[in-house]
Amino acid sequence: MRRLRATEPLRTLVRETHLEPSQFIFPLFVCPGRGVRREIGSMPGNYQLSIEEAVREAAEAADLGVGGILLFGIPDHKDESASEAYAEDGIVQRALRAIKQAVPDLLAITDVCNCEYTSHGHCGKIVDGQVDNDATLEWLAKAAVSHARAGADMVAPSDMMDGRVGAIRRALDSAGYPNTPILSYAAKFASVFYGPFREAAESAPQFGDRRGYQMDPANGREALREIELDLEEGADMIMVKPAMPYLDIIRQARDRWDVPLAAYQVSGEFSMIMAAARNGWIDCQRAMLESLIAIRRAGADITITYFAKQAAALLR
Ligand code: PBG
Repeated sequence: MRRLRATEPLRTLVRETHLEPSQFIFPLFVCPGRGVRREIGSMPGNYQLSIEEAVREAAEAADLGVGGILLFGIPDHKDESASEAYAEDGIVQRALRAIKQAVPDLLAITDVCNCEYTSHGHCGKIVDGQVDNDATLEWLAKAAVSHARAGADMVAPSDMMDGRVGAIRRALDSAGYPNTPILSYAAKFASVFYGPFREAAESAPQFGDRRGYQMDPANGREALREIELDLEEGADMIMVKPAMPYLDIIRQARDRWDVPLAAYQVSGEFSMIMAAARNGWIDCQRAMLESLIAIRRAGADITITYFAKQAAALLR
């Protein structure tokens, strides 16, 4: 076996898996204000950005050949009914208009969820102390339509309510957006690795946790059922999240369905590598590339990653 490993040209020739900047999606956190560029403590190199700063960041990603951005909003005002999630002039809706105007050719995907917008931090409407599934679907459908109206190229529901893909599809179709695709966070696990994101998006639940709607990390077969249901409801693309602890799910999804498959290398996966690198315990660039290649080898076509810009710059 060592004959074909002897030199870099030989290794390059027989390499099976390749990384392409066009298959990375870069998450951005947009907040109110002007000139805001607040670094997220637990996610070095990532920022809460006011709109014009987010436009700058999006333009940089486009210049590096990154495949697209995924927008998250941090609203001015949170309330019981997540009203800014679906407001026509909400933070994401305004940021989208600005980004699509400045960088029209960059693919803009929006995260459709309520946890950043509710005062209690849960992903849906609370009825009798529980997240009410069907009441939440209405909010999600309204949010998706408002994103499409503001110029979203794709919407990505991440809430894990049952039936949300179908509800969003029907709402988009009847509002005149039959061509807006849905990337569903189909197999999303209740993961500790979202910790740094909740600091970034100020979205930690104020009571309880998300295990009543996100999946049990122990369940692989159930993940396949989740994906199947989302496809039946009309998902155009599917996602597994987190990525590296769930490579088995990515591989099974790849083998079973021929739709584009995304994986989300989440905040905690990013932050662990950054923290170890800052301690001098691991080489950042190599850990970044090895983790991205592993996710791709497992079968992901598209990777959502906080390393998108850094990796794209290296791969040029
Ligand atoms: C919103 C949402 C979360 C993430 C993406 N969309 C947080 C959560 O479910 O708690 C996590 C992303 C990351 O950790 O990078 N529901």
